[in-house]
Amino acid sequence: MDIRLLRPSDIPLIQHANLENLPENYFLKYYLYHALSWPQLSYVAVDISRPPKTPYDYPKIVGYVLAKMEEEPTDGVQHGHITSLSVMRTHRRLGIAEKLMRQSQQAMVETFNAQYVSLHVRVSNQAAIHLYRNTLGFATEKTEAKYYADGEDAFCMKLDLSFIRDQIKKEALEAGELEPTKENAGGEAADEGEPVGDVGRDPNADNKEKTYKVKVGRGLGVGELVERVETKQS
Ligand SMILES: CC(C)(COP(=O)(O)OP(=O)(O)OC[C@H]1O[C@@H](n2cnc3c(N)ncnc32)[C@H](O)[C@@H]1OP(=O)(O)O)[C@@H](O)C(=O)NCCC(=O)NCCS
Repeated sequence: MDIRLLRPSDIPLIQHANLENLPENYFLKYYLYHALSWPQLSYVAVDISRPPKTPYDYPKIVGYVLAKMEEEPTDGVQHGHITSLSVMRTHRRLGIAEKLMRQSQQAMVETFNAQYVSLHVRVSNQAAIHLYRNTLGFATEKTEAKYYADGEDAFCMKLDLSFIRDQIKKEALEAGELEPTKENAGGEAADEGEPVGDVGRDPNADNKEKTYKVKVGRGLGVGELVERVETKQS
């Protein structure tokens, strides 16, 4: 089994897996929005025991996690969100979902310094609740009544990711990549890099660097594609 980053070319396959495994389904553009906005956070599990024979054959995707960063967090805290997770019936209880989740959580911290990750789960979904609560350590924040289109309630769950930050720092200290300062013993993350100086800069460029404002997410008109709109009837 290979756990690797989601590629845009995988999207029709994960959309198919989603339709097979879950009643919460999304437009193709919603997958694309995730893959293009946060390409570091979504992963697929590929069964490589029967590799494609020709370049035209599809990889055999047996699980995926679709994840994002919350663009406008109401609590003002930078955090990730699991939009969708599923594993094909033929490949369940092999630890695939756990691995997909852990990869995504790691990337949320490494790439975006996420403080926590959140998700919704049906109150009747015993398998997923076991995975989130018992295996991964999520805690239930609250119950959201009639969150799903069929009227079922959702548990809103949250996992504090500081244990990953601590692990990253510990590994960097052990590898000698980080000076053992007071801050590194438990404070804010220190800048690990060497000063980059002028390497890679255009020597003829004007000293005053120009900055440009670019639109992301909501500004591009994709903000309305939120999970709730897709799953809940108004
Ligand atoms: C929920 C789901 C993703 C779990 O995938 P999986 O690859 O089988 O899960 P894992 O093998 O990584 O198992 C993780 C843990 O959950 C437990 N688990 C898995 N399926 C279970 C089940 N049906 N009942 C109870 N526990 C279950 C495993 O025993 C394991 O526990 P452990 O760490 O104590 O040993 C999968 O069942 C699925 O795709 N379900 C349909 C889609 C879905 O519900 N997605 C979640 C939406 S929020």
